[in-house]
Amino acid sequence: MGQSKVTPLPSNLDLAGKTAVVTGASAGMGLETARQLLARNCDTLILAVRNTTKGEACAQELLNNPTIKAKAKCPVVKVLPLDVDRYESVQSFAKCLQKEVPVVNILVLNAGIARLNMERAPTGHERCLQVNYLSNALLLFDLLPNLYSSAEKSGFATRVTWVGSRRHDGGGTFESAPPAPGTSILNRLDSDERSSVTTRYADSKLLCAMFMYALAPRLDSSKIVLNMVCPGMVSTGMSDFLPWYGRVLAGALKVVKGARPVEVGGLLIVNAAVVAGVEGHGRHFSDKEIMEVSEYIRSEAGQAVQKTLWEETLQEMREITSLPAEIS
Ligand SMILES: NC(=O)c1ccc[n+]([C@@H]2O[C@H](COP(=O)([O-])OP(=O)(O)OC[C@H]3O[C@@H](n4cnc5c(N)ncnc54)[C@H](OP(=O)(O)O)[C@@H]3O)[C@@H](O)[C@H]2O)c1
Repeated sequence: MGQSKVTPLPSNLDLAGKTAVVTGASAGMGLETARQLLARNCDTLILAVRNTTKGEACAQELLNNPTIKAKAKCPVVKVLPLDVDRYESVQSFAKCLQKEVPVVNILVLNAGIARLNMERAPTGHERCLQVNYLSNALLLFDLLPNLYSSAEKSGFATRVTWVGSRRHDGGGTFESAPPAPGTSILNRLDSDERSSVTTRYADSKLLCAMFMYALAPRLDSSKIVLNMVCPGMVSTGMSDFLPWYGRVLAGALKVVKGARPVEVGGLLIVNAAVVAGVEGHGRHFSDKEIMEVSEYIRSEAGQAVQKTLWEETLQEMREITSLPAEIS
């Protein structure tokens, strides 16, 4: 089958003077995105990781990378704790980031998981829902003032790229088993014991896409450019949690589909984060192309789910944080 070939980033892409934050930067595409940002002269990079010992080893690996080591100016690479399984960690990360760096120019929301069985985060929510969706919503709300002030201080729109998946379009359960009107969307994901590894993941990424579509029009795109990107199927350790037979199947699928090397995944994330223009604000990228909003999300049923999701998410967040004025 294979996936299409990806063209390189512009050769003159230069991120000198920029500060970037990458969540889930201790493995896979997060670490690779960090490497590519530094290779393009990014001055300061924050590795937002749940395991800081592993994060420090990654920071060292990046600083020892021959391309980065050869730079005239040695970049600053800092490790900050962020465990998106837990709201308290998201909130202390947001506070800590403000103290650590005066400006954030680029934020990549990359941390993400898939799970086979129903697992609960310490918040009580199903883990894919927590890690892929809810904690990112909180992180965005808590960072918004910082992202706006970063744009004011730097004179450039702050760039926010969230790593999604095109599996949100048709890969989950919402089209095959539409929620009855009035159903809680968060409860549905929290209680769906029957969903499979693929539908559970796709449903969580559908919520991310819907939230991004709802949030972006509320932001001033001259100050914050928000987009989402799917880098296609990429060879990372993402399926390592599976039992051996699941890993064998996942490995076979990667061969059949022509899974991309991690460098290509990182390139596509960097493309969305710093190359794609403001026309991509509030849009989902598939590789380097802007995806049409899916037929389901555009449908009456999809729009009703998006509205309920937005309201429920705000309600949940109000119990944890003060929402920025433009949101509440
Ligand atoms: N691989 C693909 O084919 C593919 C395709 C489309 C989209 N994506 C998306 O791409 C993103 C990166 O995935 P990947 O393929 O690079 O996977 P990966 O190699 O498994 O890396 C996932 C990263 O997320 C971090 N993470 C997981 N749970 C976390 C938590 N509770 N708090 C903080 N960090 C956490 C991991 O930290 P540790 O290092 O501590 O484990 C790791 O650094 C995900 O959002 C995924 O959904 C992947």
